[in-house]
Amino acid sequence: MNAEPIKPSRYQSDSGALAKVAALLLGLLVAVLMLFVVLMWVDARTEQKAVASPAAPSAPAPAHAHNTALPIESFAGVVPANAQELAAAHKPYDATLPPLQAGDVAKIRMVMKDQTLEIAPGVKYNVWSFDTAPGPVVHVRQGQTVEFTLVNGGKIPHSMDFHAARIAPNKAFRDVMPGESFTFRFKANDPGVFMYHCGTKPVLAHIANGMYGAIVVSPTDMPAADNEYVLVASEWYMNGDGITEPASLDMAKAHRMEPDWTTFNGYANQYVTHPLTAKPGETTRFWVVAAGPTLDTNFHVVGTVFNRAWVNGDMSRFQRGVQTVGVPAGGGAVFDVKIDDEGLYPFVSHAFAHVDLGQVGLLKVGDPEGTMSH
Ligand code: CU
Ligand code: CU
Repeated sequence: MNAEPIKPSRYQSDSGALAKVAALLLGLLVAVLMLFVVLMWVDARTEQKAVASPAAPSAPAPAHAHNTALPIESFAGVVPANAQELAAAHKPYDATLPPLQAGDVAKIRMVMKDQTLEIAPGVKYNVWSFDTAPGPVVHVRQGQTVEFTLVNGGKIPHSMDFHAARIAPNKAFRDVMPGESFTFRFKANDPGVFMYHCGTKPVLAHIANGMYGAIVVSPTDMPAADNEYVLVASEWYMNGDGITEPASLDMAKAHRMEPDWTTFNGYANQYVTHPLTAKPGETTRFWVVAAGPTLDTNFHVVGTVFNRAWVNGDMSRFQRGVQTVGVPAGGGAVFDVKIDDEGLYPFVSHAFAHVDLGQVGLLKVGDPEGTMSH
């Protein structure tokens, strides 16, 4: 009996505490809701701004209204404010496949140079290079002998490794001391498109610093193409933004595989500003090498399908009707597209982070409206 009155009072005091907690929770809820409303309002304002600016009647049309869905003009890395102007002034790496040398022996000479090159608009990098980065495209005929001379104009040992060669690497690909030169020969019996690079240790640093290029060994028989372009995909790892002063290699980034820029032929987006060209109905051939040093390229041409794809650079057969082909770091492949309709056809690595980082270009077929002819 004694216990009876206690129960309600305890109940009373419990309910009082519960009410306090409920009030506190309600207060918190109101505060959170208010914060949410403020955030939504800020968001709406930003969105309005973003929508409003391009619609402003006085806003000038973008310099390159290519009207494709890709972020082809995005520079994911840091560039100066006048990037578009600098990109237009940049002289692109000539992607055109160079002519063959006559005769049984093709003589190639490269001078290794330390120099500062632009790798994106206003972005400079201290390269180790074979003449330039990528090095010059070597084009030989299947069965031709390559006589290669390497002149080391750099400060440290370098070497040359041709993937197209069957040769003892400890002899032919040996280190050449600064100021020295070295000549070796090999017979290019295997057709395709191959990487070449400096093979001096650490190879990662020598390739990352720009010591790579492509050698095309044209097969004795191959369907004709109207335009032939060579694209070397690669990535840059920088220890600074390269704007205030030239950047050098960041080996830790290279190990983490976190590039600042990815490119075709060494310079971000260069064939967006300076498109490669074809006429409607023509067959365009891309000889593609992925130089890395580490990353692959996933080659794709937007708006078409490969008529022929020599996957892995196996020239004995081609695949038809293929959309995207992986080219591994250190590998090559060949692609034909025949495009009938005038227009701008982006070629990309379909691993889209690479597009944002600069591995994208345009094939301009015909003279589509609203574009300048180059
Ligand atoms: Cu080297
Ligand atoms: Cu190699």
